[in-house]
Amino acid sequence: MRGAFIVFEGIDGVGKTTQLFTLFHELRGRSRKVVLTREPGGTPVGEAIRRVLLDAENQEMTPETEALLYAAARAQFVSKVVRPTLERGEVVLSDRFVDSSLAYQGYGRGLDLEKLAQVNMLATGGLRPDLTILLDMPVVTALGRLEVGRRDRLELEDTDFYDRVRRGYRRLASADPGRYLVLDADREVEVLAAAVMERVEVVLGLV
Ligand SMILES: Nc1ncnc2c1ncn2[C@@H]1O[C@H](COP(=O)(O)OP(=O)(O)OP(=O)(O)O)[C@@H](O)[C@H]1O
Ligand SMILES: [Mg+2]
Repeated sequence: MRGAFIVFEGIDGVGKTTQLFTLFHELRGRSRKVVLTREPGGTPVGEAIRRVLLDAENQEMTPETEALLYAAARAQFVSKVVRPTLERGEVVLSDRFVDSSLAYQGYGRGLDLEKLAQVNMLATGGLRPDLTILLDMPVVTALGRLEVGRRDRLELEDTDFYDRVRRGYRRLASADPGRYLVLDADREVEVLAAAVMERVEVVLGLV
């Protein structure tokens, strides 16, 4: 059996982690070997980069620095986690990947998309997901799902930002429809999980 790389994308609160876990358990139940990952993937180098990205002391970080650090962590993640797992014939499920950088740093913050794509090409060595599941829904609905404390910290300008990110994701998907499953995420968990599984069965050659 060949491995497959499946990624969940979408703005904050759309239900990526929920669907990722559901699919993970479903595939495990069908005795597929599945590795559940999230960048930076638990590599020591990746975790060190993540600490720099999340450190509140680093307020002065430029968007370019941020984009390069994400790409650097991704390079480590691809070579130490994703490629070896795929080579063993296993399935890799990832919470976010390159499209998050293109959507957030590119469409959201306005960094040059072409350059971002080049930096990420260096990071991934051209590895692309076999399938990206884009969970799509209006920003207010998605942010409304987040816990109150986090939601309250979001300002009006964040809504515009997330709108740009959402539109960016949709553009990425429509530019390459064969590699994406775009789902209206404003539906029940089980309904979405069934739609995800239907497409994953095709990608894994189970039907
Ligand atoms: N289909 C759904 N309908 C209603 N609520 C949902 C649905 N899917 C997830 N939720 C709830 O919405 C919240 C956010 O879900 P989840 O954490 O999976 O989103 P996420 O996309 O991973 O968010 P983040 O980007 O912040 O990690 C959780 O409380 C979850 O239980
Ligand atoms: Mg999540």
